[in-house]
Amino acid sequence: MLYLCTPKETKLLGTLLRHALPEVELAIWPQAVDNMQVRHIVAWNPPEGFFANFPRLEAVFALGAGVDRLLLRTDLPAHVVIIRLTDAGMAQQMAEYALYGVLRYQRQFDLYQQQQVEHRWTPLPPRLAHEVRISVLGLGAIGSTVATTLAGLGYSVSGWSRRPHQLTNIACHYGRQALDTLLNNTDILINVLPSTPETRGLLDHARLAQLPQGAAIINASRGDQLDLDALLERLDAKQLRFAQLDVFDMEPLATGHPLWERSDVIITPHIAAITLPDAAVAQIADNWRVMQRGGTPSGLVQRHLAY
Ligand code: GLV
Repeated sequence: MLYLCTPKETKLLGTLLRHALPEVELAIWPQAVDNMQVRHIVAWNPPEGFFANFPRLEAVFALGAGVDRLLLRTDLPAHVVIIRLTDAGMAQQMAEYALYGVLRYQRQFDLYQQQQVEHRWTPLPPRLAHEVRISVLGLGAIGSTVATTLAGLGYSVSGWSRRPHQLTNIACHYGRQALDTLLNNTDILINVLPSTPETRGLLDHARLAQLPQGAAIINASRGDQLDLDALLERLDAKQLRFAQLDVFDMEPLATGHPLWERSDVIITPHIAAITLPDAAVAQIADNWRVMQRGGTPSGLVQRHLAY
């Protein structure tokens, strides 16, 4: 039996799953089920302790790309396989989200917005796309689409990841040592890394200080990778021109948080790339079938890497 447990779009996801996997018996939480029959779960943020109810659970299909919270749970035994979404329509959304900040930076819309507040009419020297150095942290399905989309528009794009990658027109770097040099040469830093023990706290005081004067930062993966106190300090010092933030350690961001007040910060409520029910269910159904045949699903989480 496949058990669906999600706080959002439950009805739609249930209908889509029934359609995509007619051969599977589907139940939808909180419908009562025989717990012994549940082998597969499709879920996003199920209640704490939920997984412990199913002694014969084999696999969990996450309705998202990031499985950091799933991996921190104590009710999910180590033998249960976790499959996350890879792309499933999120990569393009993320590229669009990044592009908004990139255009704001390159075409200086933030500076013109300030001029408007001051009723000033002052054309600024143009900055051409190829003069803007963009670094994308994370080169998985999402990061590589972000990087290649921006490179296709003429920006000078570098990428950074844990292991080596090769992407056309992207200068790919990997490993901790390469990061500092890259940050020194970055006008716009775009973070789409998964949250893992290795990446949590990565963008701390020391690393933000490596960015050149006037750089911008876009964080669209997880809040725990970016030190907000360090960010505020760098913004106050005018080293950073602006930050575009979609994710926070505590969501929603506390109403009294100093970030809300700032004209040099754009805050969005974790919408950079949302799960698209059709694409998500299509990928889950494909993966389910691959697994029935004994194959390896796309998005199989390697627990030792935490993504
Ligand atoms: C959203 O944050 C996701 O991980 O898909």
